[in-house]
Order: sequence, then C-alpha cells, then structure tokens
Amino acid sequence: MPLIVSPSILSCDFSDLRSELKKIEASLAKWIHLDIMDGHFVPNITFGAPVIKSIRSKTDLFFDTHLMITEPERYIEDFAVAGSDCITFHYEASKENSINVIKQIKNFGIKAGISIKPNTRAQEIEGLLEYLDLVLVMTVEPGFSGQSFIEEASEKIKFFKDKVEFLAVDGGINDHTGKICKNFGANVLVSGNYLFKSEDFNSSVLSLI
Ligand code: DX5
Ligand code: ZN
Repeated sequence: MPLIVSPSILSCDFSDLRSELKKIEASLAKWIHLDIMDGHFVPNITFGAPVIKSIRSKTDLFFDTHLMITEPERYIEDFAVAGSDCITFHYEASKENSINVIKQIKNFGIKAGISIKPNTRAQEIEGLLEYLDLVLVMTVEPGFSGQSFIEEASEKIKFFKDKVEFLAVDGGINDHTGKICKNFGANVLVSGNYLFKSEDFNSSVLSLI
C-alpha cells in the first residue's frame, strides 16, 4: 500500500481554512486529520462536529477524525453524520467498552480506528485488531501539536505491522521521524507543525513519502 500522509489541521491557519484545504488538495496528501479534544481526556479544547460538517461540503479528502475525548460512545453519531470517513477513538477512554464503540462506528459504514497513548502497551488492544481498520500509535502525549517525537513509542509499530490495514503514527512527525516510523512499518503519517509551518507545504508532504 502506498504511504498516506494525513495533515493535521490543528496547526493550520483557522482564519483561512478554505485556503488551507486547497493547499492539502493540491498536494499528494489524500487524507485530512481532524483532532477533536474535549478538555477532559486531554488538557486542551479544539473544535467539534459542526466544523467537520462545514468543511465536508468543500472537499473530497478522506476525513480522518481523531477523538481525544472521554465517553466517545456519546459522540460517534455526531462525528459520523458530520462526514468522517474514519473515526479513531482512544482505548484509554473506553477500555472494556471498546468493542461496542467499534461496532457503533462500523454501523455508519465508515472505518474504525483505535489509538493508544505512549504509556499504553500495544498488547492491550491485541484482541481488538480483527475488528479494526486502523491503529493510531501516539508518538507524543496527546493534547497539543508541535511536541517532540517519543522514540520509544515508535517501537510499538513493529508489533502492529501487517496486523491492521492502516497503521498510523501521530505526534512530532517530520522527514526524519517519519522515516523511522515507515521503517518500522507505519503506512499513515499524521503531521501538523512540520507541514503547516513549513515554507513549502507541497514539498514537505513529498519529503514524508
Ligand atoms: C496531538 C494530535 C496531533 C497533532 C500533531 O495530540 O493528535 O494530531 O496535531 O501535530 P504535530 O505533528 O505538530 O505533532
Ligand atoms: Zn491526532
């Protein structure tokens, strides 16, 4: 499978979202990563389903929604109906209820993903892999863009290699750390600061592929 770049709009210029979307569309990135934070699961608040709904009508990019929220089961419908193509929630936010959340997502006919924080062991979600389309390995503590890549977290990628269709990494991804993750077996690179704060968005996307 060709490598997928999923730009995280958390680092974009929200006052000019339309141009930022065009920038992504003009690049080789096919996905857009939408970070949803609730101020409970992580100490930061971003945006919600209405923002996704409004940009849905403007682009055909694949909507890769990353829920960093408690009680994800309460909001799956909102984020699915808003236009997500894949919804990823955190294992730490759902634990024993994870299988039901996966089923809930699948009922909307979209892809389901689960994410684990740097301190969560890969083995904890092994039993869920057969139901998942995507695993998102956090390579920073979730909550903020622009943090440094945690090298040890990338070790988990080896464990998931070839066990799931989309193996994604998120946090501190640039041309150097992206290469490390690709070598371990990741096939989706989420990147925020590195892409949006660069001089040339398009060539930065290329440098990840
Ligand atoms: C962090 C978010 C990331 C973040 C990535 O909690 O899930 O998607 O925006 O940003 P960078 O690439 O700047 O670490
Ligand atoms: Zn994310």
